[in-house]
Amino acid sequence: MESRQAVAVFGAYGHTGRFVVAELLERGFVPVLSGRDAGKLEALAASSELEARPATADDPASLDRALSGTVAVINAAGPFAATTAPVIEAALRAGIPYVDVAAEIEANADTFAHFGERARAAGAVVVPAMAFFGGLGDLLATVAMGDWTSADEVHVAYALSSWHPTAGTRASGTVSHDRRDGRRVRFANGKLEYHDEALPSLKWTFPEPTGVRSVIGEFSMADVVTIPSHFAVPRLHSYMTAEAVGDLSAPDTPEPAAADERGRSDQTFLVDVVVRSGGTERRATASGQDIYAITAPLAVEAVARILTGRTRTTGVASAGEIFDAADFLGALSEHLTFELHQ
Ligand SMILES: NC(=O)c1ccc[n+]([C@@H]2O[C@H](COP(=O)([O-])OP(=O)(O)OC[C@H]3O[C@@H](n4cnc5c(N)ncnc54)[C@H](OP(=O)(O)O)[C@@H]3O)[C@@H](O)[C@H]2O)c1
Repeated sequence: MESRQAVAVFGAYGHTGRFVVAELLERGFVPVLSGRDAGKLEALAASSELEARPATADDPASLDRALSGTVAVINAAGPFAATTAPVIEAALRAGIPYVDVAAEIEANADTFAHFGERARAAGAVVVPAMAFFGGLGDLLATVAMGDWTSADEVHVAYALSSWHPTAGTRASGTVSHDRRDGRRVRFANGKLEYHDEALPSLKWTFPEPTGVRSVIGEFSMADVVTIPSHFAVPRLHSYMTAEAVGDLSAPDTPEPAAADERGRSDQTFLVDVVVRSGGTERRATASGQDIYAITAPLAVEAVARILTGRTRTTGVASAGEIFDAADFLGALSEHLTFELHQ
């Protein structure tokens, strides 16, 4: 019975993992709690009456036990440089789909590079960055592109009212920074390009009522991997509102605090995707509350669609490639407002 299928959550007691567990319950799945700290897992299991299965990335047998009897795994344990490959390997051994919320450009790119062929050959499904960064931008880009398979320009602009990063976000930023030797990365000339140029301060005109905002350009997020994975685009331009960049870079910005009964913070987001081809412009936007909380319905909706065969391909695929993007975004109407501006 679909409604009682067990779905493993690796990193279940993290900030995002907890939203994922709550969303799975809401959707009628049985979350199986996994992660490396048995004590934190037990505490979560005790309060939720769910099963806890401790596992570590360097112990394949523990991951096999964690995934045993489950129909899918959602990996919410980041930095993903350490967890992605071992959990994908375990999912492939178990013969179940794998979905993660990684926002680490190199980890996202590694997933395509290292598992693309094997996953396709096995008929397995692996969806990286099925989250606010990576997945949502890609779904919006796919809707905006419509019947285009290529575009001259792709712009992804983020307006966050604030950004109170979790410990996991900060740790992932540090790991990514170290992996690229402190250099910056962007998608240009048809590939990921490393550079040392300063990020430009620009203005971006978001749809009203947000309007013109100061943004930092070339603020590359996981979209630089997901969107070019299935569209022919020479360059991807990304922008983040300057206040949010300031929050993220300040060492003393507090972690997100719950502001409503679902545990969401009062942070609001607007993601604005503009694509241009041959002088024609298309645009799709989504807005909502709390970038960590929205990641849960994105990841769980992905799992629900994979399990019911509402997919367009197998192997490693981003959200926009594997799902019907407009239908997917429409299904999240309880969680976000989505608009296509033609
Ligand atoms: N793409 C997006 O839009 C998006 C959205 C949300 C989150 N994320 C990413 O998801 C990750 C988690 O974020 P969060 O907000 O949930 O942070 P968090 O509250 O700090 O939780 C991090 C979780 O990952 C676990 N973890 C870290 N390293 C691990 C390892 N080597 N092995 C096993 N577990 C490990 C932590 O366990 P311990 O407590 O035992 O260390 C904890 O459960 C971050 O990388 C973040 O960037 C991305």
